[in-house]
Order: sequence, then C-alpha cells, then structure tokens
Amino acid sequence: MRIVEPTAAAIDEAARLLRAGGLVAFSTETVYGLGGDATNERAVAAIFDAKGRPMFNPLIAHVPDVREAQRFVQWSDAADRLAAKFWPGPLTFVLPRAERSPIALLATAGLDTVAIRAPSHPVAQALIRAAELPIAAPSANRSGAVSPTRAEHVAQSLGERVPLILDGGPCVVGLESTVLDLTGATPVLLRPGGATREAIEGVVGPIVLSEALPTGAAARSSPGQLASHYAPSRPVRLEATSVSPDEALLAFGAHPPAGARLTCNLSPTGDLAEAAANLFAQMRALDRPEISRIAVMPIPQTGLGLAINDRLRRAAADDGARGRS
Ligand code: TXA
Ligand code: MG
Repeated sequence: MRIVEPTAAAIDEAARLLRAGGLVAFSTETVYGLGGDATNERAVAAIFDAKGRPMFNPLIAHVPDVREAQRFVQWSDAADRLAAKFWPGPLTFVLPRAERSPIALLATAGLDTVAIRAPSHPVAQALIRAAELPIAAPSANRSGAVSPTRAEHVAQSLGERVPLILDGGPCVVGLESTVLDLTGATPVLLRPGGATREAIEGVVGPIVLSEALPTGAAARSSPGQLASHYAPSRPVRLEATSVSPDEALLAFGAHPPAGARLTCNLSPTGDLAEAAANLFAQMRALDRPEISRIAVMPIPQTGLGLAINDRLRRAAADDGARGRS
C-alpha cells in the first residue's frame, strides 16, 4: 500500500487502476472514499470485500457533474434545483435508476434506485474525470468503524486491502454527505450530513426526516443506517456536563469541565463547521486503551449539529457490535 501526493502522474496511475477493475482510496471534501468502477460488478464486489461490508448496504456513485449524473439516474426537477445550489458538494441524491443504467446491480444492492453525488474536492474531481467512469465509493474504512478524514486513517483501517491512497490532505467538511431520497413527492432525509437540513429546505421547502417514518420503512429506504456504526472501541457517553479522571473528554465550546484524563475540543469557539471537521479525527485520538469511556459534551441540534449528533448517537449505541467492526 502506498500513500501518494495527488500529482498528475499519480491521478493518471489511479485512473488506470480503476479502469482495470482495481481499487483506489482518494480524498473528498467529506471523508476519504474507497473507489472502484461503479459499472464493474467485480470491482464493486472487491469494495465490499475490502471493507467487510454487508452486501445489502448499497454504495454511492460519484460523478463529476449533473450531465454525467443524468446518464445513470432518472433526473428530477428537485434534483436540478438542489444540484444548482449544492453540487459539486456534500449532498447525495437517491433517484430511480435510469433505463439501461450501467451502474452495477451490486452497487445498489439490487434496489431500483441509485445514490449519486458530485464531490467538490479537486482530487476527487480530477480522478473521476481521468477515469471517465462513475466511481462507487463508500467511506474508506472497515465497515462499522469511524470514517477516515486523513490519508493515514485509511492506511490504519484498510492496510494492504487498498493498493493506492491519493492524499489530498485533511477533509474540510469531515462528515459524510447528506443522503436525500428524491423518489417520492416529498424529499426524505435518509442521512444527515455535510449539507444542512435548513439549507436544503431553503431550496425545496419542508423535507421529511427518515426517523419520522415507520421503523420498517426507514430501514428499507436507508439500509446503511444501522444504529451502531462509526463506533470507536471505547464506550461513548453523551450529554456529559462533568467528567471523571478515567474518562476522555470530547469537549465543545469555551467552558469544558476539568478533570478528564485526556481532552480534545471540537471547537473552543462553538463553531459547528469546525466541530464537524474535527469530529472523526478527535474520536480516534481519544479512543485509547488507558481510558474507560469517551464523554461527549452536548452539541446544539441545529445546522451541522444534526449530523454531528447523529454520528455521536451511533458511536454511543451499544448493540453488541462493538469489537466486531
Ligand atoms: O460523503 C460521503 O457520502 C462518502 C464519500 C466517500 O463520498 N461516502 C459514504 O458512503 O459515506 P457510505 O457507503 O459510507 O454511505 C452511503 C450511504 C449508506 O447509508 C447507504 O445505505 C446509503 O448511502 N445508500 C446508498 N445507496 C442507496 C440507495 N439506493 N437508497 C438508499 N440509501 C442508499
Ligand atoms: Mg461509511
């Protein structure tokens, strides 16, 4: 496995690898992705294998722009208005598969919909354009673990399972994209992420949160949203207003409680964008054997706070999956 600077030669090599059915990890503005040719069933199978990901959990196809997206999905008016504001960027649309869409069936886990996104990171853009392929890319970590926001996180999580990592620096958003289902009359927020609910509603009006749907419906429409996910190896305690000496503290704001064994502050000034960008790297830094628990201070449930709290709740959910991921 090699971590390389994203020079023109490296992008070229990565694009050739992808066209030959190989895998490449690359930076996007949200988190690092583990990419493969989205039209190649075997490349897609290799992604599931490298991640240890259950095959019922479909992948996002990455494209450079709206024009390319229209080859793979049945585009819509809402998608058009949202793309004008958010693309390229951290917003993924779930749309019906286009007729004769070449996206591998395995990539969509047999669903008749496709999740599609145009990332803004220059390395992601350059790679997709050089490969001249839609690129299926989940976060570049073993299934269930915290998403990587640095090239070295990818190396730590996937090791020799990935031959090449294009190092585009730390991810500026730091949280996965928002996943929005546009197949019905009203958009449904399947996963909160880097594009905020408020900004989306500013374009298309009120949307539905998948949590508001009956349990079965939510599970069906967003198969990846397992309760326990993004799990560090130490237990996580939310809404902490005080800490004990055996705990690590994930703080937010100017006045963290004193006394923790280790402390990281997501944003001393209380800036949610800064907190999002720091979240996964700081969870990793605090996830150490010498602490008993990671205590997390309350984070406001507005803007990017919706996605931050979603990831924190999953990190805290203990349904027996910890240790297996
Ligand atoms: O920011 C991101 O979205 C990153 C970067 C690499 O682009 N990718 C990412 O992929 O987070 P992944 O595979 O970790 O998450 C994809 C999410 C999962 O929750 C999956 O269930 C959902 O998208 N998804 C994919 N296809 C879907 C579909 N057809 N219908 C509903 N949900 C879908
Ligand atoms: Mg993931």
